[in-house]
Amino acid sequence: MCGIVGYAGGRQASEVILKGLQRLEYRGYDSAGMALLNDDLELIKVRGKVRDLADLAEKHDPHGTVGIGHTRWATHGEPNDVNAHPHTGTHRQFALVHNGIIENYNVIRQDLEKKGHTFTGETDTEVLAHLIEEIHEMSDIDFYQAVQQALLQVEGTYGIAIVHKYHPDRIIVARKGSPLLIGVGDGEYFVASDASPVIEYTHKVVYLEDEEIAVITRDGYEVSTLKNVRLTKEVHELAMNLEQIEKGGFPHFMLKEIFEQGDTIGDCMRGRLIVDENRIQLGGLDGYVDRLCDARRVIIAACGTSWHSGLVGEYLFEYLARIPVEVEYASEFRYREQLIDEQDVMIVISQSGETADTLAALREAKRRGALVLGICNVVGSTIARETDAGVYTHAGPEIGVASTKAFTAQVTVLTMMAMLAGRHRKVLSDELMRELVRELRDVPARVRAILEDTSGIEKVARMFTYAPNFLYLGRSYNFPVALEGALKLKEISYIHAEGYPAAEMKHGPIALIDEHMPVVVIAATDHTNEKVVSNIEEVKARKGRIIAISSNGQSDVARLAEFNLSIPEIHDCLSPLLAVIPLQLLSYHIAVNRKCHVDQPRNLAKSVTVE
Ligand code: AGP
Ligand code: GLU
Repeated sequence: MCGIVGYAGGRQASEVILKGLQRLEYRGYDSAGMALLNDDLELIKVRGKVRDLADLAEKHDPHGTVGIGHTRWATHGEPNDVNAHPHTGTHRQFALVHNGIIENYNVIRQDLEKKGHTFTGETDTEVLAHLIEEIHEMSDIDFYQAVQQALLQVEGTYGIAIVHKYHPDRIIVARKGSPLLIGVGDGEYFVASDASPVIEYTHKVVYLEDEEIAVITRDGYEVSTLKNVRLTKEVHELAMNLEQIEKGGFPHFMLKEIFEQGDTIGDCMRGRLIVDENRIQLGGLDGYVDRLCDARRVIIAACGTSWHSGLVGEYLFEYLARIPVEVEYASEFRYREQLIDEQDVMIVISQSGETADTLAALREAKRRGALVLGICNVVGSTIARETDAGVYTHAGPEIGVASTKAFTAQVTVLTMMAMLAGRHRKVLSDELMRELVRELRDVPARVRAILEDTSGIEKVARMFTYAPNFLYLGRSYNFPVALEGALKLKEISYIHAEGYPAAEMKHGPIALIDEHMPVVVIAATDHTNEKVVSNIEEVKARKGRIIAISSNGQSDVARLAEFNLSIPEIHDCLSPLLAVIPLQLLSYHIAVNRKCHVDQPRNLAKSVTVE
């Protein structure tokens, strides 16, 4: 995920671009750059924020009325000056910015290297630039056609914008899977990832669809399909304000991020879940799978929500790969008598990749000789750099302080890791593997199905907005989901909530239950269904108010609960990916009803870099 902006018109392009990038910065902020067409092709790029690019640009005094810019959210290659966009080919005749992931970049890169191309960085985007250059130079087609051909060869997702030194009046743009729109002005045209950079100049926009390509000049635009069919596009009038646009029309980033989960889980599996071949491929673990599989035990260390996904990981690794797992609070691990050595493997999980406690646990485990693998969202973050190897979650920037899409992406990665290890250790049968691969593939659609109608959740939220306490109960895979549901509620609505394994309730918390106590029961796993039904009966006997999260097939749960929020059926071990969604939404709506500051709850920081 990143931000793209481009301009062709009568103004200084750099000014429009810098202002636009600032507005797109919520989409990515690890590096920024721009390319301007004047007598030459001028490239300015730098690791850091758009502010750093603006400072650098001041020194260059850039000029030109056509140009493109980018604010990056790294997926391939750490954030540094070289990997920042725009990228060029060997002869630096054109510059390209890209949002998305080119999945087959490695194969293409190896092929181009054999043909003499040298790469300066590690991004998939640079590979696309070289591919376009190769096609253009090795055939007699024009540059635009070379772009078309290259795009037909790449797999994955892209929103791109390209400027060429010898066509100084135009920008070529194209999209597949990453958003792009054209801003229609008067004697000036824009391209951007969303409308925020454009709205100051025009309210008229044209949305590009997948596999469409367009040429933009100061006099107009032409849109075609990649296969060269000319299109007439509808011009839309924007009715939103700037803030609404940045949040994609949602009132808060948290809600936007909850609703993104169908896409982010899909992005996380892209190029990794190979359905046709019934296998998992995690390039980030190449060379380390043996050691993971031979581990005496796996220790997962993390904090907060990432710790909860680690707990789900424990169940997954034990069930699918039969490797013993311990899950540690990173903050506790660092001060314990650590019995960890080179026979163990540590997995650290962190959205930000900067959490101080997690980093300390990582360093201690490494010092004692353990292999340390990472599951991080922020590419190039300290934890991502210091681990021996790892898998990125590719969930895009998470702005809301309460973590939502990072959690489901972490659980998705842990599931894939456990499946990979299970196959490698030959303890996961062909049949179960096939079932899980299919089920995983369908998770994004099922997440979207839950998000389609959230009225039931909103009703429950209204009912319990002023409850002073909440209890969350779950068993097995959904015990961590109970903890996560309780944490979400505490964080953003300031209601006291506790998560418990359902059967533990009778060992203490049952004393809290009376007719005022809302009890959220996550009953979405079949193999514990009967037990959970008994737990529900126990709560009801004490007049507790049951809010159940059950799968469509669990009619007994639905019957007993005062409120039943149903989710699609799914294999037990994947149920956390669905069950957590109504809980995220429940806490969100309660917090909104209580007029809490959802995206920046009191006392909390997005990234906790202190002990
Ligand atoms: C989640 O909603 C929290 N804000 C918090 O618990 C968070 O998960 C924790 O601080 C860990 O952060 P990390 O994943 O960036 O390491
Ligand atoms: N995959 C590209 C990169 O890592 C683009 C990432 C983005 O969308 O910002 O640089």
